[in-house]
Amino acid sequence: MAGGRALILAGTGMLPEVVEALVGDGWHVVLPSRRYSPIAVPGTKPGIAALAKLRPRGHRPTGGKANGKRRPRAIWVQAHWDRPRELAAKAEGVLGGPADLLVAWVHEQYRRSVLGACERLLAPGAPVVEVRGAGGPQTEAEPVLAAHPTQLVLVGAISELGGNRPLGHAEISDAVLDAVSRAAAGRPASLHQVGQSRPLVW
Ligand SMILES: NC(=O)c1ccc[n+]([C@@H]2O[C@H](COP(=O)([O-])OP(=O)(O)OC[C@H]3O[C@@H](n4cnc5c(N)ncnc54)[C@H](OP(=O)(O)O)[C@@H]3O)[C@@H](O)[C@H]2O)c1
Repeated sequence: MAGGRALILAGTGMLPEVVEALVGDGWHVVLPSRRYSPIAVPGTKPGIAALAKLRPRGHRPTGGKANGKRRPRAIWVQAHWDRPRELAAKAEGVLGGPADLLVAWVHEQYRRSVLGACERLLAPGAPVVEVRGAGGPQTEAEPVLAAHPTQLVLVGAISELGGNRPLGHAEISDAVLDAVSRAAAGRPASLHQVGQSRPLVW
C-alpha cells in the first residue's frame, strides 16, 4: 500500500498536531466536524521522530503522492456526531476507499453511535486509536470496535509534570501521537493513560 487513508473523529479543537503529522507522513486524512478548521501545510515543520514508524505496513515513499494519484492532505467535511449515518456517508464520499486508520475522540454520549456508523468505512483489521476521558461515569475501558485492534488512550485531568497543574494540550497530543505510531506499526491493542486522575475527595 502506498500511503494510507485516515479518518479522524475529533472535532476541531484538540488534535491538529496529529492531523498535521499524518498528512506530513503521506496520509490522506478526512476530518468530519461541525466547524471548519484550517490545518497547517505539511512540510513547514521539521520531521517528528515518533513518526518514523508511522507508515502503514508496506508503505513506499511516493514523493508526496498517496495511491499514485492524489497528494496527501486533510479534507474537512461538515458533519455532526448527532447524525452518525450522515457523517459516515459524507466521510465515505471523500475517503476514496477503505480507511487504514481511525482516530476517534468523541464525547461519551455519541461514542458508540458514531464509531458504530463509521465501522463499515474501515478496511478489515484496520487499527483504531480511541481517546477517552479517564474516570467519569463510564467504568468499562473496552474499545467500541472489537474487530479492530485498538490503542485506547485515557486522558486524565492532572499533568504528569508535577505541581498539580492541569493536563496540557501538548501532553495529550504527544500521547495520541504515540498511540497513532503504535497503531500504524500494527502493534497489538493496548491501554495507556496520560495524566493522572483527580484524587477522590470524601
Ligand atoms: N474531540 C475532542 O477534542 C474532545 C472530545 C471529548 C472531550 N474533550 C474534552 O472536552 C474539553 C473541551 O473541549 P473543547 O473546548 O474543544 O470543546 P467541546 O465542545 O468539548 O468539543 C470538543 C471537540 O468536539 C467537537 N464536537 C463537539 N460536539 C460535536 C458534535 N455534536 N458533532 C461533531 N463534533 C463535535 C468540536 O468540534 P466542532 O465544533 O468543529 O464540531 C470540538 O473540536 C477539553 O478539555 C477536552 O479534553 C475533547
